[in-house]
Amino acid sequence: MSTSPLPRPSDLIARRRAEVAALLATDAAQAALAIHGTPLLLLDTARVEQQFRRLRDALPFVRFHYAVKALDHPAALAVLDRAGCGFDVATSEELALLVDGSVDTARIIHTHPIKKPAEIEHALAVGVRTFVVDNDAELAKFSRAPRDVRLLVRLAYRNPHAKSDLSSKFGVGFHEAERLVREARRRGIRVGGFSFHVGSQLDDPDRFVHAVDETIAFMSRLERQLSVRFDTLDIGGGFPVGYDRDVAGIEDIASGIRPSLERVRGRYTILAEPGRILVAEAATLVTSVMGIAERADGRWYYLDDGVYGAYSNVVAEDVHPLVFAVTELDGDAEQATHRWATLAGPTCDSADVIAREMLLPDLRVGDPLASPAMGAYTAVTSTRFNGRPLTSIAVLSQAPATGEVAIPAATSGVGGPQPQTVP
Ligand SMILES: Cc1ncc(COP(=O)(O)O)c(C=O)c1O
Repeated sequence: MSTSPLPRPSDLIARRRAEVAALLATDAAQAALAIHGTPLLLLDTARVEQQFRRLRDALPFVRFHYAVKALDHPAALAVLDRAGCGFDVATSEELALLVDGSVDTARIIHTHPIKKPAEIEHALAVGVRTFVVDNDAELAKFSRAPRDVRLLVRLAYRNPHAKSDLSSKFGVGFHEAERLVREARRRGIRVGGFSFHVGSQLDDPDRFVHAVDETIAFMSRLERQLSVRFDTLDIGGGFPVGYDRDVAGIEDIASGIRPSLERVRGRYTILAEPGRILVAEAATLVTSVMGIAERADGRWYYLDDGVYGAYSNVVAEDVHPLVFAVTELDGDAEQATHRWATLAGPTCDSADVIAREMLLPDLRVGDPLASPAMGAYTAVTSTRFNGRPLTSIAVLSQAPATGEVAIPAATSGVGGPQPQTVP
């Protein structure tokens, strides 16, 4: 058996461990687990609101539109709506969730650069007026749009170090963007400004500063050359989350871009489309061991959730989630025997591996594990592979009027849970 001394955890890991321990000790989490079992995503909507307030405090003159694609749970949408956040949608289905939740459509922008004509019609019909384009075919779809529609041309900034360099799929360079603005003018379509996305899980705050500065300079040049006036600058998403290591915080990124944005805040409405930063840390995934095997490369634990389920961020987003054995959250980690183990998901596919070389105490079938920061791009990208149900989500929230903890019934993926108050 290969056992190892436990290395000193980084500050981030120690902080995450303490947060998970505190969460699992609450009556609300205990009740949710007792009712629903595992796997279960525990969603703390107060944390979503807290992140929104941090963003708003750091950049008070920016209008934030939460990127619904990161987590479309009605409770997350509702708390952001109540806090005054706007929304960014990519599809008619995301839009319908907001409309069903009675969100004011004036606070919704549609930022997918490629849309079916029917999706545009649907969005226009419910009152959305801001859309994104990056090519002629998309521009042509707006030829007969109402006059108050505002198009943003999506710019591409290469970011090979971002976890997801979105510029390879969408966006254009300055030359093509200028041509599109001229073409829009020829067709009588209003271009209100520009958007970009620096890439998800941005590794380098300077790239954000660079993209903001370049875009502002480009807008000023075009305004002079074409005698046009733009009104909107959309700085996209990309604020990173510390999954297994520290990353630049909201305040660090904001302090980098704030001086440039402040210079143009009187000229342009400044929008942002944060996704993961608002919801990732709000959810903790609790799983349990369903099988144990000794293989040639050591011990394997098979969990009741995997990369085809809520750990989908491992494959789709290259996230390395932390996984804590719940048995050692209370601090006696040093006492236990630890060994390197592989953590696999429940399906029969050999690609369903969550992590290799995880240092864990000896576990038994049924032992629970917990992964923090599992709110973004997890539930939304889960599948029902092998016929497994989508991982349930239990909402832990503080009911403001009574101070009671409300746990809506767990939901599988999206759709309307009916809140139940647990006594
Ligand atoms: C257009 C657009 N806006 C916003 C986001 C949210 O990005 P993030 O979750 O990195 O903040 C994405 C993510 O893919 C996106 O494509």
